[in-house]
Amino acid sequence: EDLRKLEEFQAKIDAEIKIEPKDWMPEDYKKHLQRQISQHAHSEVIGMQPEGNWISRAPSLRAKVVLLAKIQDEAGHGQYLYSAAETLGKSRDEFIEELQSGKAKYSSIFNYPTLTWADMGAVGWLVDGAAIVNQVSLQRTSYGPYSRAMVRICKEESFHQRQGYEIMATMANGTPEQKAMAQDALNRFWWPSIMMFGPHDSDSPNTGNAVKWKIKRETNDELRQKFIDKTVQQAEVIGLTIPDPDLKWNEDRGHYDFGEMDWDEFWRVVKGNGPCNKQRLNHHKKAHNDGAWVREAAIAYAEKQKEKQLV
Ligand code: 3HC
Repeated sequence: EDLRKLEEFQAKIDAEIKIEPKDWMPEDYKKHLQRQISQHAHSEVIGMQPEGNWISRAPSLRAKVVLLAKIQDEAGHGQYLYSAAETLGKSRDEFIEELQSGKAKYSSIFNYPTLTWADMGAVGWLVDGAAIVNQVSLQRTSYGPYSRAMVRICKEESFHQRQGYEIMATMANGTPEQKAMAQDALNRFWWPSIMMFGPHDSDSPNTGNAVKWKIKRETNDELRQKFIDKTVQQAEVIGLTIPDPDLKWNEDRGHYDFGEMDWDEFWRVVKGNGPCNKQRLNHHKKAHNDGAWVREAAIAYAEKQKEKQLV
């Protein structure tokens, strides 16, 4: 019986038919999605912290307004993604508990500090640039609610990348000190940004199933290569140097060759020992507790509305 259901399920995946919440799906497919979508949502929410650090320090009112708008978008992306994750029969409270207890992961990149205003440029340009490459691909993911969340998120992401690149371009064409600040930000964010795509395919335990079930439409290395190929020119145009001595165009491959990432650093950060991991989780716990009264009030109000309708 289950074998027949499994064959029917895989036939739908192969026929590019979206899987919806009420459809039968293998337990492993459901768990894979609960893990990936909730960790994607955690990344959006934790990602608000490094940028939030610069709202009160933005160099102009325009810069402040643009940064505020971007951070509000990230909160909304988290909302879409938690809602998509909840369609898989697990509650938001459970997901939040997994994040706060350290059981769940979120993107390693957000465990690095944002030390100067140029870091706001590097984050928008590189982190959102990498996220765009990843999320454009995920628009074609097999699970309906995740795919639709990606379509909505991608509509907003290009603004995020453009505003970051504008900051970098402005500083790179500014005073020598400003150009040096932009180069320093690129030096600190380049390698952590390309590590956002995850370990090499050969070291990626989830990619096998992810590709079989079309959760992932391209692999970690394929997406990383796409991001590097498109970003190198953008650095050249504004006169900044990517801090990788092995970066070189390979005519035969039609791609850039690049150096090896520091996987000890990657796993150290992923396992909770990066520069800001503790700070990010402590901030999240405080904000979550301080905001409890808002959630309680919203639930009480919703219940009153329901009672009114019953009268
Ligand atoms: N940071 C933290 N953990 C990472 C990671 C990273 N950069 N890359 C991989 N990992 C973890 C995986 O989660 C997995 O651990 P788990 O099984 O406990 O979840 C382990 O390392 C092995 O990696 P795999 O390649 O086997 O895992 P996946 O197949 O899930 O691939 C992924 C990892 C590419 C991040 C994939 O999960 C994915 O595409 N997720 C959705 C996109 C996402 O989460 N993006 C994060 C950034 S969101 C963002 O940038 C917001 C923007 O608006 C600023």
